[in-house]
Formats: sequence, C-alpha cells, structure tokens
Amino acid sequence: MKFFLDTADLSEIEEVASWGALAGVTTNPSLYARIGGKLEDFENHLVKICKLVDGPVSGEVTAEDRDGMIEQGRTLAALADNMVVKIPVCVEGLAATRVLAEEGIDVNMTLVFTVPQALLAARAGARYISPFVGRFDDIAEDGLGQLDDIVTAIQNYDFGHPVEIIAASVRSANHVTQAALMGADIATVPYGAMKQCIYHPLTEQGLEKFKADWEKVKNA
Ligand code: G3P
Repeated sequence: MKFFLDTADLSEIEEVASWGALAGVTTNPSLYARIGGKLEDFENHLVKICKLVDGPVSGEVTAEDRDGMIEQGRTLAALADNMVVKIPVCVEGLAATRVLAEEGIDVNMTLVFTVPQALLAARAGARYISPFVGRFDDIAEDGLGQLDDIVTAIQNYDFGHPVEIIAASVRSANHVTQAALMGADIATVPYGAMKQCIYHPLTEQGLEKFKADWEKVKNA
C-alpha cells in the first residue's frame, strides 16, 4: 500500500516528503480553507504542492455541473504533469469523469461510500476511487467494512484501465493497518495520523535502552 498525505499544508508536505516514503498528496476544498487559502492563489498553491511531491496530487473541482467540472478539470490537469482531478461521485461528476478520462486526464472520484458508487466511478473511467472510512464511522456505519467491500468489488473486475482504491478519511494508524490488510492500493493519511503510524512505545523504549547501553560501552 502506498502512502499519500491528506493535506494542503506545504510545510506538512515538505516534512513528510523528506521521510522518504510519500507517494502522493490529496487535497479538497476544506483542507485548502483550513490553511487560510485564497481563491486567487488556489492554482498556484497546487503547482507548489506538485513540485514538492514525486507522485500524484489531487485537486478538487468545485463546479456543480458537468460542463463546469470538465472545464475546471482541464485547467487543473494543465497545471502539472502529476496533477489528478478530484471529482465528487454524482451524476454530473460521473459524466465529467468520462469526458476527462477519454482525454487522458486522471480522475480521483471522491466522497465514495458504497460499492455501487465505486463501480460506477470505475466504469466512468476514474483512475482513483476514494472511499471515506472515518466519515462513515461518524454516522455509526462500518467504514472499514465498507472499504473492504469496495476493494473486493473493484478487484472482481477488469475495467480496461488501471483503478486504484484510496482509503480516505483515515483517522488513525489502525485505519491504515486495516486498509493494508484489505488490499487498498493507497491510504491518504492526515499529518497527525501519519506521525501516529511511525510511533510505538516499545520502539521508543528500545531506543532509550540502546542509547543507555551505548553509553556503558563508551565508558567501559
Ligand atoms: O481527502 C478527503 C478525506 O480524506 C477527508 O477526510 O477527515 O475530512 O473525513 P475527513
């Protein structure tokens, strides 16, 4: 499973990219708002992210009709070679995905919560499909169970083009573990949960012990 960072924060991206395991970034309008992003800086900001990461960067359309999504999608895709157009799953989004996919533009279909939504996204030509785990849990549904079903359903078929599942709305290291065991291709993880993925108390204790024992060696 590959690790994407779910953020629009340049310093978070720069830091996690320096760890050496980052394969991509996903953004959405809420993440851009969270960093105080301005409308006029949006495209330039995505270009900056694309330069920081060696892998796909998702930028989301905000138009609500297919023609608007297609136009925004073309504009976003032209910003950088590694730009992916994120589109919400709905009738207009599926129609826009078909057009953009036929033009060779990679689409990440977002806000996916069900197997039929995921299958329709893949059939419309989406390169990436993003089931939201945490938000499904938030409404007392089984986010990980739904992710598992979507992974299985997508793996059952050949869509004639590559399709990768991005476990999204990830909230914890356990979500990452379970997504990997299910065979999700990618987990897009917020900065806090990404740090949680590295940490374990026994690792910390082990490091302290190595350090203390090395002092003994030095002073022997
Ligand atoms: O990028 C979309 C998704 O990961 C959002 O997650 O935490 O806002 O539900 P969250």
